[in-house]
Amino acid sequence: MKYLLGIDIGTSGTKVALYSLDATAVASKTIEYPLSQPKNGWAEQDPLDWWNAAAEGTRAVLAKSGADPKDIGGVGLSGQMHGLVMLDADGNPLRPSIIWCDQRTSEEVNDLNRLIGDRRIIEITANPPMTGFTAAKILWVKKNEPQIYEKCAHILLPKDYIRYKLTGEFATEASDASGMQLMDVPSRNWSDEVLSKLGIDRSLLGSMHESPDVTGQVHRQASLETGLAEGTIVVGGAGDNPAAAAGTGVVSESKAFTSLGSSAVVYAVSDKVSIDMKGRVHTLCASVPGKWTFMSCTQGAGLSLQWLKSNVCVPEINEAAEKNIDVYKLMDSLAADVPIGADKLLFLPYLMGERSPHPDPFCRGVFFGLSAKHKRENLIRAVLEGVAYSQRECVDVFREMGVQINDMIVTGGGGRSRLWRQMLADLYNAPVSVLASDEGPALGVALLAGVGAGAYSSIEEACSAVIKKEKAISPNPEASLAYEPYYRLYSKLYLSMKDDFKALASI
Ligand code: XUL
Repeated sequence: MKYLLGIDIGTSGTKVALYSLDATAVASKTIEYPLSQPKNGWAEQDPLDWWNAAAEGTRAVLAKSGADPKDIGGVGLSGQMHGLVMLDADGNPLRPSIIWCDQRTSEEVNDLNRLIGDRRIIEITANPPMTGFTAAKILWVKKNEPQIYEKCAHILLPKDYIRYKLTGEFATEASDASGMQLMDVPSRNWSDEVLSKLGIDRSLLGSMHESPDVTGQVHRQASLETGLAEGTIVVGGAGDNPAAAAGTGVVSESKAFTSLGSSAVVYAVSDKVSIDMKGRVHTLCASVPGKWTFMSCTQGAGLSLQWLKSNVCVPEINEAAEKNIDVYKLMDSLAADVPIGADKLLFLPYLMGERSPHPDPFCRGVFFGLSAKHKRENLIRAVLEGVAYSQRECVDVFREMGVQINDMIVTGGGGRSRLWRQMLADLYNAPVSVLASDEGPALGVALLAGVGAGAYSSIEEACSAVIKKEKAISPNPEASLAYEPYYRLYSKLYLSMKDDFKALASI
């Protein structure tokens, strides 16, 4: 065995990456696909787009690297969490996947509380009912598309659909499945009580594993479509955030990361199950067997910046194309020249509703304080700051729960922005660091595949052998002080507008 392969089914695209056993990236390929929003607050993707991207990406990576597929010791799968994939008895998708940031299920959240009991559901699933989690999405299909539910033979998460396409197995693992709200999170298996109260047949769900477990082998048809060798093992893998934890070395208590992707997540590992009864942050299973995690999720992080870029920053898109530079770098440099507070402009990043620390499907994005003086650079800075304020709110909850935030790694596409990282350091009032090579979820699941294939004895051992941090950025005390009044006002705005968001949704 010379290599390990990681496949990450993201929201904007799928990344396939091949690593040597010391975690050096040998080749990688990202293939993008669309997100469809049929109604305000809805979000869907086509599972076949994910599979086509995974298969094409794997072929491209094999061609680029010249690697002999037989030298790949194992494949790890990572993916956007909570998405609902429904297949018929022949394994074909019955409808587009309702993905993590979809907010259509406020009624079903009430149904979950009524059917299971509002305290009991927290005792079992470790979280109050969430619009974003999979159980509410299943109830929505059951109620609104009974003809589809009737034909449904398999319910899978996004990366587990790719597992099915690669191996023919219907299987999942605890880190991703704990975000379905169908598991007994303390005992790390499906909850018969939840399933029977919701009327969901257990046979619809995959078999349950831990992240490094071998769940199947690449079959003949998948080998033809991807170029992988028939018989290559596929391990459990992890949801994208627990996979990023493995890829950043956040595998033991007192370590944490902030990931700035389409969503933004603060993630810390815990040896025991602790629950925030207000549902401001989630408790899920970690990708480390026998450990759990606290995790927050800001729904619209990179998604807000991408929205601003596509709808407002057309001159920057054109300028970046002319100069052949990255448009986000250009936007960053414009924002860097705007003072802290964006010249008195605040942004609430609720374009897709919110989860942490305000679980609310009805809230929507706000620019607060807009003036005729403001230009596009103020909007850009306000978006970056709004996402950073949201991370600080989540870190405040973590701290209230007794989680130490002293060793914070920043990862994800947004983590490449030095400006955004400095904002986090200043707002957390703690140093933040990046990794020497930020490979994130794809590397995390490749390492898990290495554990499954026997290259490493555990994920902890793999991480301590291969993950290297760079020098930390320190908080700037003056900047921390300057952000404080804006942050305090930001925190008040959601509470002031909570009822108005609901009123707007009901018009
Ligand atoms: C986490 C979450 C998002 C998705 C994005 O709870 O919903 O981070 O996993 O890919």
